[in-house]
Amino acid sequence: MNRDQTRDAVELRERARVIAEREVAVYGERTVGSQRAMDRARKVLPLGVPSSFQAYEPHPIVVRSSAGSRITDVDDNEYVDYDMGFGALFAGHMHPAVRHAVQAQLDEGTLYVTPCEMNADVGELLAEQFGQPLWRFTNSGTEATMDAIRVARGATGRDKIVKVEGGYHGHHDEVMISMKPSAEDAGPPDRPNSVAGTAGIASSVIDDTIVIPYNDADALDRVLSPGDVAAFIVEPVMENIGICLPDDGYLEAVREITERHGTLLIFDEVKTGITAGYGGASAHFGVTPDLIALAKSIGGGFPIGAFGGKRKYMDLITQGKVLHLGTYNGNPLVMAASKATLSQACTKANVDAAIERNTQLVEACAKIIESAGLPAHTVQFGAKGCVTWSSERVRNYRDYLKADGALAFAQWIHGINRGIMLPPGLDEQWLISVMHDHEDAMRYADVFADFVTDLT
Ligand SMILES: Cc1ncc(COP(=O)(O)O)c(C=O)c1O
Repeated sequence: MNRDQTRDAVELRERARVIAEREVAVYGERTVGSQRAMDRARKVLPLGVPSSFQAYEPHPIVVRSSAGSRITDVDDNEYVDYDMGFGALFAGHMHPAVRHAVQAQLDEGTLYVTPCEMNADVGELLAEQFGQPLWRFTNSGTEATMDAIRVARGATGRDKIVKVEGGYHGHHDEVMISMKPSAEDAGPPDRPNSVAGTAGIASSVIDDTIVIPYNDADALDRVLSPGDVAAFIVEPVMENIGICLPDDGYLEAVREITERHGTLLIFDEVKTGITAGYGGASAHFGVTPDLIALAKSIGGGFPIGAFGGKRKYMDLITQGKVLHLGTYNGNPLVMAASKATLSQACTKANVDAAIERNTQLVEACAKIIESAGLPAHTVQFGAKGCVTWSSERVRNYRDYLKADGALAFAQWIHGINRGIMLPPGLDEQWLISVMHDHEDAMRYADVFADFVTDLT
């Protein structure tokens, strides 16, 4: 952006404060039923929510129903859903093919704890799409990254793992380190501290998780040099700090460095997955990791995870050296949903079409930013996009900390009052699902234009 065009930050922030104050009052009036439901829930659930990610200020929207690309709250407000279950609902809310498959499966049972034929069906689909020969199912992304790390430790006999600062890989102890450390705790940018993300993590676990900045291949080389690291786990594109893309050549360098040090490379594709493109981010970038963790978008809205990888590593499970267990793994209900998602709802043609609709949305938002001269930019990866409130590209967690939270909050509260469903803050991104038509996709841009007019 041309510097002369950049509006005075102080003036913008003051205007954002006025908008936010006005819109918080409107939000309170529109969501009386949500507040009542939250007051009730807080009496029996900490923060009134089933996962702490669902708690946000002023109070969460409590939802009654959803269909396709829409969601309706208990006050009868309808929203275009751009959150789509933190990106899990790439197939849309109850895609007809998923609904049909799941309804048919209900008549055949939901849990056998002995195999069903759909286990191989879904395994074959994942093998074809993600280019890895062997797969196992879990019930969440957390389990998928946890089990992939165990395979890496089993394969190498090493204890330590490396992750990037600001990266989220689920809620097991080893990766709940430096997800969003405060600026005071985070340490030097090039050699970040390992900061526990929660109380309750053993100090030995913290010691075994080394943290490095994203997009810094030299830092990776340095921490792998002693030869005691089992795995580097990384999202190929970071999608818990908006959308943070790899520099040209970064993932290729990561592949070369991990291989040289005998460290397994785990791509956490829980969020990228098929929203990145039909073969995920690894196919998009042409970089093949040793193991891939999946969840969210492959399940059509049902609780699934999966991890897969090279035969020599996954065969540790075959040999019984690494155990992988779980009562609900590969249960027929979720298999039916996943099979319908991968083979009917999210076909290559449907995935490409959703990405194309998203490109139009991202371009429209970029034009709005450009013509208003705002200190913001858009980022797209596949079917996901975001407006990042900083002029500079975000290359890592420290850059993300510099983005303007006040402008992001004002945009969010303005949008949710006009039917744009997203969580507040700078962490998430929008998803254009296979069920968002052109009009649904572009609603975000229309409301964004309205906000920008108000702001400027
Ligand atoms: C990149 C990434 N990995 C893993 C997980 C954990 O997945 P789940 O919430 O299904 O346990 C998440 C969840 O948001 C994620 O974003």
